[in-house]
Amino acid sequence: MTASIDLFKGRTTKKEQRVDKLKIGILGTADIAREFMAGIRLSQKADVVAIASRTLDKAEAFASEFEIGKAYAAYDALLADVEIDAIYNPLPNTLHAEWSIRAAEAGKHVLCEKPLTPSAIDATAIFEAAQKNSVHIVEAYPYLAQPQTIRLRQLLDEGAIGRVRLVRASIGFSMSDRDNIRLDPTLAGGSLLDAGSYPVSLVRVIAGERATRTYAVADWTETGVDRSMVATLEHAGGLLAQISCSFGTGVHRHALISGDEGVIETSYSNHTSPERPAVLQLRRGTSWSTAYETISLPEMDGFLAEIDSFADLISIGSPQWSGATPEQSVDIARTLEAIIASARAHIPIDL
Ligand SMILES: NC(=O)c1ccc[n+]([C@@H]2O[C@H](COP(=O)([O-])OP(=O)(O)OC[C@H]3O[C@@H](n4cnc5c(N)ncnc54)[C@H](OP(=O)(O)O)[C@@H]3O)[C@@H](O)[C@H]2O)c1
Repeated sequence: MTASIDLFKGRTTKKEQRVDKLKIGILGTADIAREFMAGIRLSQKADVVAIASRTLDKAEAFASEFEIGKAYAAYDALLADVEIDAIYNPLPNTLHAEWSIRAAEAGKHVLCEKPLTPSAIDATAIFEAAQKNSVHIVEAYPYLAQPQTIRLRQLLDEGAIGRVRLVRASIGFSMSDRDNIRLDPTLAGGSLLDAGSYPVSLVRVIAGERATRTYAVADWTETGVDRSMVATLEHAGGLLAQISCSFGTGVHRHALISGDEGVIETSYSNHTSPERPAVLQLRRGTSWSTAYETISLPEMDGFLAEIDSFADLISIGSPQWSGATPEQSVDIARTLEAIIASARAHIPIDL
C-alpha cells in the first residue's frame, strides 16, 4: 500500500470550466441524505437533480418530498445519467468503495459519506479509480468545512498553542434501534466506523501525519460490533492522542488539543446553531492563572459548508477543498482498521 498518495497535486478535472450549479445525484434514500438535502437547499453552488433507490417507490417518494426532478429504481441507472456531474454516496459503509468506484468509472465526481471505507486497501483503490477517470472522490466530514475547524487549523498553523503534544477527542450518543445499519456487522457497523471516524479524522488533521501505532480496547454488542471504543494513537513526531466513541452514552462531542504553549478546547460540531454554538476555547501560555479566550465563529449548516467546498473543488481545484485529502483518507482508513484489529486481538498494532 502507498503511504504517500497525493492525488490532488497537479490535477485537472473534466469539469473545471463549469460555470453553472453542480448537478448532484444521490445513491440511496438514506436518513443522512435528508440532512444533506436541507443543506443543499441553502447552496448557490450545487443542486440535487436525481435520486436512486433499490426500489422505485422509495425513490419517487423521496423525489416528491424534496422536489427532485428524477427518480431511478437502480443506482447504476442514475450513474448512466449524463446530466449528472457528481454523486453523493450515503450507502452503508460496506458499499462505499464499490459505488464510489463505479461512479468514477461513469465519469462522476463523488462526495462519499464517512468512513470512506473500512479497508485501507479499498481506500487506495478508490483514489486510483478517481485518478484513472480524472474525477475527484472525497470523504464527507462536514465539520472540516465548518468555520470553527478552519479557524482551529489557522490557530495551530500560527503556533497559537505551540507544538501540539496531546490530543483527546471523543464522541458518543445512544443507539437503541436494533435494525439500524450501524449495529450490523455485515454492513461494517460499530461505534468506531460510525462515530469514531470523527475523532480519528481530527487527530489525523492535527497531527499532520499518520499514526504509527495504536492500542485499543472495546466493549462489544451482542451483534459483535463495538458499542464503545477507546484507542491510543502514537505518532512519529511525538504527538500522543486518545480517541473514544460510543453508541451507549449520553450525547457528547469534545476535543482537547494541548500544545507546549497553550490549549484549545472545542466541540468540533457538524452543525452549529444558537443551541450548539461554534466556539473555540483558547488558553495561551502555560500559566495556571491564564483565563480562556472564547473565540466565537459564525453558525453554519455543516452540509452547506461541505457542499459548497465540494462544488469549489470541482469548479476551481484542489486548494478549495477544506475536507480530508486523499492521503488523509487513506491514513484514516488504515488507522480505523488497526484500531479494530487491536481491540479484537488485545495487542498494540503498528500501522
Ligand atoms: N455525516 C454525518 O453526520 C453522518 C451521519 C449519519 C450517518 N452517516 C453515514 O452515512 C451513511 C448512511 O447512514 P444512514 O444512517 O443514513 O443509513 P440508512 O438510513 O440506513 O440509509 C442507508 C441507505 O442505503 C441503501 N442501502 C443499500 N443497500 C443497503 C442494505 N443492504 N441495507 C440497508 N440499506 C441499504 C438504502 O437506500 P435505498 O433502499 O433507497 O436503496 C438505505 O436507505 C453511513 O456511511 C454513515 O456512516 C453520516
